[in-house]
Amino acid sequence: MESHDGMHASVRISGGQGSGKADNSFRAKDPLTVVIFGASGDLSKRKLIPALYHLEQTGYLPERYAVVGFSRTEMTDEAYRERMLDEMRQDFADVDAGSPLFGALHYQPGNNTDVESFHRLKARLDALDAERDLPGNRLFYLSVAPEFFTPIIHNLNAAGLIRNPEEPQWSHVIIEKPFGHDLRSAREMNEEVTGILDESQIYRIDHYLGKETVQNILSFRFGNAIFEPLFNQKYVENVQITVAETLGMEGRRGAFYDNAGALRDIVQNHMLQLLCLIAMEPPAAVEPVSIRDEKVKLLRALVPYGSPEEVRESTVRGQYGFGELRGDVVKGYRQEDGVDAMSTTETYVALRAKIDNWRWAGIPFVLRTGKRLRNRVSEIAVQFRHPPLRLFRQQAVPDGHAMAAASANVLILRIQPQEGISLSFACKRPGMQINLAKVNMDFMYEAFEQRSPEAYERLLLDAMRGDASLFTRSDEVDYAWRFTDSILSGWQELPAPRFPNYYPFTDGPDEADRLLLDSSTGWRQLSQMGIAEVGR
Ligand code: BG6
Repeated sequence: MESHDGMHASVRISGGQGSGKADNSFRAKDPLTVVIFGASGDLSKRKLIPALYHLEQTGYLPERYAVVGFSRTEMTDEAYRERMLDEMRQDFADVDAGSPLFGALHYQPGNNTDVESFHRLKARLDALDAERDLPGNRLFYLSVAPEFFTPIIHNLNAAGLIRNPEEPQWSHVIIEKPFGHDLRSAREMNEEVTGILDESQIYRIDHYLGKETVQNILSFRFGNAIFEPLFNQKYVENVQITVAETLGMEGRRGAFYDNAGALRDIVQNHMLQLLCLIAMEPPAAVEPVSIRDEKVKLLRALVPYGSPEEVRESTVRGQYGFGELRGDVVKGYRQEDGVDAMSTTETYVALRAKIDNWRWAGIPFVLRTGKRLRNRVSEIAVQFRHPPLRLFRQQAVPDGHAMAAASANVLILRIQPQEGISLSFACKRPGMQINLAKVNMDFMYEAFEQRSPEAYERLLLDAMRGDASLFTRSDEVDYAWRFTDSILSGWQELPAPRFPNYYPFTDGPDEADRLLLDSSTGWRQLSQMGIAEVGR
């Protein structure tokens, strides 16, 4: 049971196991229609329909509901059902074609920018309400390219599909990321959207917040008494947040990504959300306003970079070149479909951020994310300081005892894969000498022997139930862009980076090491992350 970086003890869960069946108090009660814009897109096929299917299987959907796919392709209801079923069969071996979800699936062809299409959609939804005895509650899911967000919202409004928030029937609108391309466009979009919708009707999605392990960050921090007192500049040396992917630009991704880059695609949203959750103060209560207030407070303390020079010192950009995997050539980023052959878009970014508040003053928060890296792993590592006196050192002492260095404690919240938490600490190896080993205490989520709902299941259900805790509020988006924009404008002023600068399936550019030169440990190696070798 030894892994790359130490010995492991696993934590067994006693109590806590549940049946995995719907908790009735959590079921969506209001009958409704879910309308998916971008119904033939990837997200809809791979995530949204499967999420609805699993919500149906586990009993969380209301008694009566309908799902309507909306996109340009002409298709009948039957053809759409067949298509979704085929797609699902590719990912899930045991799909039940008789699930009520497929019977409730409908399709309405239309154009996002054509108001007539929305009048036809309204007629269709009204007819379905009558057919299925539905009261007119609607959940609109905007799973489309960002340029269609505001035209769709305008057209929904023009066709009379947005209810006044005071009415008993509700209209909730889920907006996918990216919410804006920079601070200015995010503000413009926010203004347009809030000109039509009340903030209580807007659900800006960040699917990371729907991940079970991300939600667990707050439970772990504030549901235990022993860790939280250590979460501050007295005891923590640095906090490392990693979102590493092995994927490149599969499918039609290149064209979108080349216009975005790793900073906009992952840091501005997913990683800043992780940063908020690991660093924020305890909320007054576990409810949307208190949680989001604390996140905003944290983002306000996150210091934007003041000059291009500061951006140059505190960030590292990367782009993958070509390489090989098991004898096959792997394309470099610039050779990917839809990508400019001279592109300077970053597929990797690492940065060192400062949080200027009482708790964290002076402690580096280092974030890194990239495509085509060595491992797929997302984690937060809280690196603690060494003990104040180094009693155990690597030296021979006169009586012949050997003393090995004790490594500092690390607390790791593993978001994916191998979801769990581990704590490393020093321990004496058995034997006559005093010889310290680093050991890990591991909790694996799978110990619950219970299926974790997928992020999109959780978020769809919350939006149906009107709970916005796990969605981002407009001021959160604004502050997140304020920080991100300070990097983007610094990069604009600096000379273009010399890309490509890392090989696929490595840890990314070596230059990132300079962000942690003053730490006692440096970055955690991607090859050592996860606990692949633990016997279970
Ligand atoms: C999306 C990004 O938001 O998140 C993708 O646009 C990225 O580039 C994906 O691959 C990662 O999500 P997950 O859930 O696979 O970690």
